[in-house]
Amino acid sequence: MSDTISKVAVLGAGTMGHGIAQVAAQAGLRVTMRDVSDAVLEKGLAGIRASLEKLVGKGKLDAAARDATLAAIRTTTDLADAVRDADVVVEAIPERMELKLETFRAVDAAAPTHALLGTNTSSLSVTEIAGAVKDASRVVGLHFFNPVPVMELLEIVRGLRTSDATIARARGLAEKLGKKSVVVRDFPGFATSRLGVALGAEAIRMLEQGVASAEDIDTAMKLGYRHPMGPLELTDLVGLDVRLAILDHLHRELGEQFRAPALLRQMVRAGKLGRKTGEGFYKYDK
Ligand code: CAA
Repeated sequence: MSDTISKVAVLGAGTMGHGIAQVAAQAGLRVTMRDVSDAVLEKGLAGIRASLEKLVGKGKLDAAARDATLAAIRTTTDLADAVRDADVVVEAIPERMELKLETFRAVDAAAPTHALLGTNTSSLSVTEIAGAVKDASRVVGLHFFNPVPVMELLEIVRGLRTSDATIARARGLAEKLGKKSVVVRDFPGFATSRLGVALGAEAIRMLEQGVASAEDIDTAMKLGYRHPMGPLELTDLVGLDVRLAILDHLHRELGEQFRAPALLRQMVRAGKLGRKTGEGFYKYDK
C-alpha cells in the first residue's frame, strides 16, 4: 500500500465536509469535494471562503495561501469522478447507516485499491461500514471536530478489521493536516462522542429540573472547569438533531444511561436545532 498522500476526496460538503476539505487543501493536498447538488457544494465553498477570510483577517494566513487553498479544491456531484484518483477518501455524509453502506459500496467500485477509506462518523460502527468494502482492512474512522480548521484533534477509530498499516497511514494524514491524533477501538460513541453527549445530556436534564438557567449552567462549566464553551452552547453548535441521533444510538447500544432527555427530543421536533436554524438553547441572528 502506497504511503504517499496527495489527493483527497471528501464526500459531503456540509459543516464537517467543507471543513475537512479546507484543512486538506491548506495542507497542500489536492481536494475534490463531492455532494449531491451544486447548491450544496456552493454553500460549502462559501463556508470555506468565510473561514479563510477569518484566518487572513487574523494574520494567520496570507492572501496567496488563501488563493492557493481555494485553487486546490475542485467540486463535483459525481461520486465516481470524485474518488477515481484519490489516495484518501473521507466520507462526511449524513449519519444514516444505509446511506453510508451505499456510499462505501460505490467508493469501493470506483476508488483505487491503494486508497485509504475514512469515515467521519461520530458514533456509527466503523466495522459495520467497512462491511460494504471488499478489503475492510483499509477502512478507518477519521473523526474530525467542529470547527475543523480550529480543533486540534483527529480521533482515529480502529474497526475490527482495520490493519496496522491503515492506522499508520491515518496517523500520517493527521500529522500532515496539523492535527494531533488519538486511536480508539470501534466501540459505540468512541471516546469523544460518548463523553461529549453524556455531559450535554446531563446539562439538558439539569435545565429540565430547574437547577439553573442555560446561561448559568454554561458559565459554571466555562469558569469552573475552563471549558471553552458550555455544554448547552456546544449542543447548539453541534446541532440538537445530531446530538439526539447520537444519544438514541448509544441508548440502543449501551443502555439506560444514554436515554435522551425529553426536552431535547421536543426541541428537535419543534425545529430548534441550534445555530443552524437560528434557535436552540439560545437565539442567533441567521
Ligand atoms: N475557521 C477559522 N477560524 C475560526 C473558525 C473557523 N470556522 N471559527 C473560529 N475561528 C477562530 C477565530 O477566528 C479565533 O481566532 P483567534 O484565536 O486568532 O482570535 C479562534 O478561532 C477563536 O474563535 P472566537 O474568538 O470566535 O471564539 P471563541 O474563542 O469562543 O472560540 C471556538 C470558538 C473555537 C468554537 C471555541 O469556543 C471552542 O473551542 N469551542 C468548543 C468546540 C468544540 O467542542 N467542538 C467539538 C464539537 S463535537 C464535534 O464536532 C464532533 C461530533 O461528533 C459532533
